[in-house]
Amino acid sequence: MSRSGPVYWDPFDRDIAGDPYPVYQRLRAEAPLYYNDRHDFYALSRHEDIDRCLTDWKTFSSARGPILEIIKANVEIPPGTLLMEDPPAHDIHRALLARVFTPRRVTSLEPQVRDFCRRSLDRLVDVDSFDLMAEFANEVPMRVIGMLLGIPESDQPAIRERADAKLRTEPGQQMKVSQQALMDSDLFAEYIDWRAEHPSDDLMTELLRAEFEDEAGETRTLTCEEILTYITVLAGAGQETTARLIGWLTVLLARYPDQRAQLVGDPRLIPNAVEETLRFEPTGHAIARYVTTDVQLHGRTVPAGSAMMLLIASANRDENSWSDPDRFDVHRRTGHLRTFGLGTHYCLGAALARLEGRVALEEILRRFPRWDVDWENSALSSTSTMRGWETLPITVG
Ligand code: HEM
Repeated sequence: MSRSGPVYWDPFDRDIAGDPYPVYQRLRAEAPLYYNDRHDFYALSRHEDIDRCLTDWKTFSSARGPILEIIKANVEIPPGTLLMEDPPAHDIHRALLARVFTPRRVTSLEPQVRDFCRRSLDRLVDVDSFDLMAEFANEVPMRVIGMLLGIPESDQPAIRERADAKLRTEPGQQMKVSQQALMDSDLFAEYIDWRAEHPSDDLMTELLRAEFEDEAGETRTLTCEEILTYITVLAGAGQETTARLIGWLTVLLARYPDQRAQLVGDPRLIPNAVEETLRFEPTGHAIARYVTTDVQLHGRTVPAGSAMMLLIASANRDENSWSDPDRFDVHRRTGHLRTFGLGTHYCLGAALARLEGRVALEEILRRFPRWDVDWENSALSSTSTMRGWETLPITVG
């Protein structure tokens, strides 16, 4: 990256994606309101600006989606897609999901999550090296969503492959967006019918039973199509994000073995190590919004109709919010990280993601107090929305 000349950032540039933090630092200092004329979008990189936008949904709308390519494609957004709608419809849909996706339900999953992590990692204790993503990290969130929804284990790999394929892009290319791709959910459809006949103690059954007042003021249960939408949103939002978190935990602790040794010595530090990892290497770097009305920012007018990128990964390293932000420190107090967003759309799965990260790391450290990453054969994944490891061979012992 050139340090001379005007600062340049775009989410499709593979070189920048390799290490975007120096670019974010320049954006915060030199171009707090940045405009990219190649792809025609604005970007904000300072913590306080991002907070302002995330809490002003009227001006910075989600109704055209939270991803730049989706906003640009200007496709019709199916109702009920939470991430892609504004209040009041959003709040009705979110309240309903929040009623069944409760903290109690999340907490109650812990024994099952731990059991799955134990079984997966026990298979690997006699192996010298393995790909952490393929053998473990990618599997955990998929199984956990399966546990949450009550999806049979045998159907889970196919569901994950479909969800991941939707987000994957060719290196340096944009994501292909179509309405079909936004709501491809046949796999779940068959399953809902089956679950309606075989109720159980899972989120899917509760969604089938839940009564609510809809936008028209009518009290009713959800249609199959609406349930499908919820499930597709949950599966899409909770899989790759959390898999990448487990990848980053592994990478950062390999880079900072002294801090890893502290976690082995005192596992009570693990929850905070997960927080610091979420801050230091968030799995999604930007949230996009559609600007509904002309708005003044840093002395300029951002016109209605613009796409705005909010660089949450930059907010997490803003020197005005954090001391020594480029230092990874498992003891840091991380209360104001923006990895899960803020405001109306704040991640509904944050507690579950944290639980998965913590349990996965506890079980990894229990078996493998030390590991090295085979950097030559590791690769970052190729998606414009997610930053994390696609392949991550590690040597243990
Ligand atoms: C490390 C893992 C995760 C990260 C980094 C993450 C990040 C985010 C972010 C940034 C948003 C807000 C997007 C916006 O403002 O437009 C969000 C929303 C959401 N997330 Fe997560 N997420 C993670 C895991 C999960 C999990 C495990 C689930 C559930 C299984 C989940 C479900 C959701 C849902 C349903 C929303 C939409 C909320 C709404 O629009 O009201 N997420 N997530």
